[in-house]
Amino acid sequence: MVGLDHVKTRLAKEAELILQPHLLREWSLRVHKTVLPAVDRLTHRPPLIIFAGDVGTGKTTLAETFADAIARRHRIDVRVKRLSLRARGTGAVGEMTRLIGTAFDVVLDEARTAGSTRPTILVIDEADALAQSREANQMHHEDRAGVNALIRGISQIATEAPGVLVVMCTNRIGALDPAIRRRAAAEFDFVRPDDAQRAAILTALFEGVHLSPSDLDHLVELTGPDGRGYGHTYSDLVDRVLAATCLAAYPDRPVTAQLIAEQVRTCPPTPPFTAQP
Ligand SMILES: Nc1ncnc2c1ncn2[C@@H]1O[C@H](COP(=O)(O)OP(=O)(O)OP(=O)(O)O)[C@@H](O)[C@H]1O
Ligand SMILES: [Mg+2]
Repeated sequence: MVGLDHVKTRLAKEAELILQPHLLREWSLRVHKTVLPAVDRLTHRPPLIIFAGDVGTGKTTLAETFADAIARRHRIDVRVKRLSLRARGTGAVGEMTRLIGTAFDVVLDEARTAGSTRPTILVIDEADALAQSREANQMHHEDRAGVNALIRGISQIATEAPGVLVVMCTNRIGALDPAIRRRAAAEFDFVRPDDAQRAAILTALFEGVHLSPSDLDHLVELTGPDGRGYGHTYSDLVDRVLAATCLAAYPDRPVTAQLIAEQVRTCPPTPPFTAQP
């Protein structure tokens, strides 16, 4: 993935220490000859990380894949469980609360039996559904119930199940309940690609197609804000422009810079979340 190195570096450490708290104690003993009080404080942070930011910027993809790097580095098996709130939580009152409760129960049960030998990452995706329900129901009690179920689950994990990390993804960090936000050990902000990142992703996507430096500059400009105030997201480029271009070329034309440029014009960038109806 492009442009996420700063997130990945910090995330790797955060996740590693939440999933394997003994590593922090070992470090302290090694370099300070004692377990610093700071280590204790760090170890008792709620095991919650928030991924926030614009649509199509890699939150879900990173949440579901970063465990791989940890698993490989420590030669351990890391399990990833996924719960999407937007997809299913729109039904009857109480459904979202039940979904959250069940997800935590399952993870807690497994963690109690497997212990911290097999870390688990619980990805709660599309978490702004929690906030949307608040708006739709005008602070209906259901919203508080969902938030409370989440907070209860996170505290239970913190006290009873070391080795479990909760990652929440949301488009609208401002709409997330402050009680949840305050508990997060870390919050990562995801943004649309800048010029250099769009150049990198376009080059990677169209590897094998001859793009001169000026072709690339032109494409970078076309996929940038271009007077609109927002440019293409990663997913606009990876999912839409790429497909449109290949389909336009197939079956008997080659992909060229000009063809990519034409297709960029037919695939305008997704508006930022706040600008959507
Ligand atoms: N930084 C990136 N580098 C390369 N590809 C990316 C990057 N971010 C996203 N993509 C691609 O864009 C697509 C959508 O990404 P993803 O679903 O992770 O975005 P998201 O932030 O979860 O979006 P949403 O807010 O709409 O849920 C994926 O196919 C992914 O491969
Ligand atoms: Mg997503």
